[in-house]
Amino acid sequence: KPKVAIFASGSGSNFQVITDAASAGELHADIVAVVTDKPQAFVVERAKTAGVAVVALRPSDFASKVDYEEAILQELKQLEVEWLVLAGYMRLIGDTLLTAYANRIVNIHPSLLPSFPGKDAIGQALAHGVKVTGVTVHYVDAGMDTGPILSQQAVEVVEGNREQTEHRIHAVEHELYTKTLQQLWMPTASASQGRLNKKL
Ligand code: GAR
Repeated sequence: KPKVAIFASGSGSNFQVITDAASAGELHADIVAVVTDKPQAFVVERAKTAGVAVVALRPSDFASKVDYEEAILQELKQLEVEWLVLAGYMRLIGDTLLTAYANRIVNIHPSLLPSFPGKDAIGQALAHGVKVTGVTVHYVDAGMDTGPILSQQAVEVVEGNREQTEHRIHAVEHELYTKTLQQLWMPTASASQGRLNKKL
């Protein structure tokens, strides 16, 4: 099973769903660490409860982004992490991690990219008055939410209602992220085909 670190800066609801799916054997992965730039974030509590190692480093404690990411990289190497999964990690990944984990970093974003990249994608969508927004899972490259797209799902906006729109988007995120990661990490095509045949 691939060893995975989840990067998060906030509540960590996506962390929770992914970790629960892995523990239940529904996701072929070992979630071995949470990496956060916000030691106070609720995701840290969730990680402790789940028994997942926490790497909490404040970027402001480092002289440069390179130093910050090298410190993260050392921890990741120690834990033999193979994949990075960003789930509400509100920072651009720099060259250090991009090089070490080339084609092994994925992100979830709460819009149908390339619409509304960057911060507060849901607020941007509401402000623009779109009727449909959604969720994108994509590979991470050096740009802001620009890497190759793995999966997308549309979500209808609840007009003028941020809370309900957010709720819909989060529900879709939780399902889409787990499903997409499972497809990415399926043991082998024939093994999964075997499971599928059993179900049919
Ligand atoms: C999610 O909606 C995720 O798509 C978004 O942050 C939220 C984190 O929620 N990420 C971005 O906006 C990245 N640009 P969570 O902490 O409950 O998983």
